[in-house]
Amino acid sequence: MNGSLHIFENIDVLYAALEKQWRLLAHAAIADHGAFYVALAGGSTPRNFYKKLAQQSAIDRACWHKTHIYFGDERCVSQDHPDSNYCMAKETLLSVVPLLPEHVHAMFSTDLSVEQNVEDYETLLHDALPLDAKEHPVFDLVLLGMGEDGHTASLFPDTEILHESVKPVAAQFVKKLNAWRMSLTFPTINAANYVVVLIAGAAKEKVLADIFSTKKNTGARYPIQQVKPAGQLDWYLDTVAAHLLNVQD
Ligand code: 6PG
Repeated sequence: MNGSLHIFENIDVLYAALEKQWRLLAHAAIADHGAFYVALAGGSTPRNFYKKLAQQSAIDRACWHKTHIYFGDERCVSQDHPDSNYCMAKETLLSVVPLLPEHVHAMFSTDLSVEQNVEDYETLLHDALPLDAKEHPVFDLVLLGMGEDGHTASLFPDTEILHESVKPVAAQFVKKLNAWRMSLTFPTINAANYVVVLIAGAAKEKVLADIFSTKKNTGARYPIQQVKPAGQLDWYLDTVAAHLLNVQD
C-alpha cells in the first residue's frame, strides 16, 4: 500500500501531530502561492481535531485569512442538518477561527438540485484552485477518513463514482445508505499536494490489516486503495486502529 504510516499512541497525540502538520503545510502553501487550499473530511473522527485546531493560537490570523476551506464530500442535506459535514465543521472550526467568509465553500445547498450543486462546485474548483496538467484542481491538503467498508469521502464500494476519471466532483446515490452524496472524485484527490487519511478506533482494524497486508494482494479491493496522490500520502492511525498491523511507526 502506498503512502507512509504514522501510528500514534492515542487520538490526542495524533491530533497534535496533525495540527503541527496543518500549520507547516499552511505556511508552505501561503509562501508558495499565497493561499492554502484545504478539503475537509466529514464523519466523526475529525470532529475533535477541528475543535483542537480552533483552539490553537499557533495558527496565526494571517494564515487563517489565506486559508480556503472546501469539503471532500457532503451528505445531500440542509447545512444545519446534524448529518451535514458542513454543519459539523462550522460548529467545531469554521465559526471559531478567523477565516474570511468568502473563503468557506460548502459543497451542498438544499436551495439547488443535486445536479446544480455538482455543476456549481465543479465550476468553483476549476475557477478558484490551481490546476494540474490535466486540468484537475490541486488542493494543498485533502483530509480523508475511512469507513469500515474501506470507503473514503463518499466513494463507496461498487458505486459508479469510483470510475469517474474526468470530473472533479460528482454525486452518487448510495444504496446502502439510501441517500444521495456528493464527493470529490479520485482525479481531484489524487491531484493533491498532500493527503492525510485519519483513522482511529478498533472498527477499522481489520480493513487496515487487509490493506497493509504484505501477504495478501488485495489489489484495489477497497476504494481507499485508489488514493494515490501526486504529492504525499500519510496515514495517521492510532494504535487501536493499527492493532493488527505488524509495523510500528
Ligand atoms: C463522511 C466522510 C466519510 C468518513 C468515513 C469515516 O461524510 O462520512 O467523509 O468518508 O470519513 O465514513 O467516518 P468516521 O470518522 O465517522 O468513522
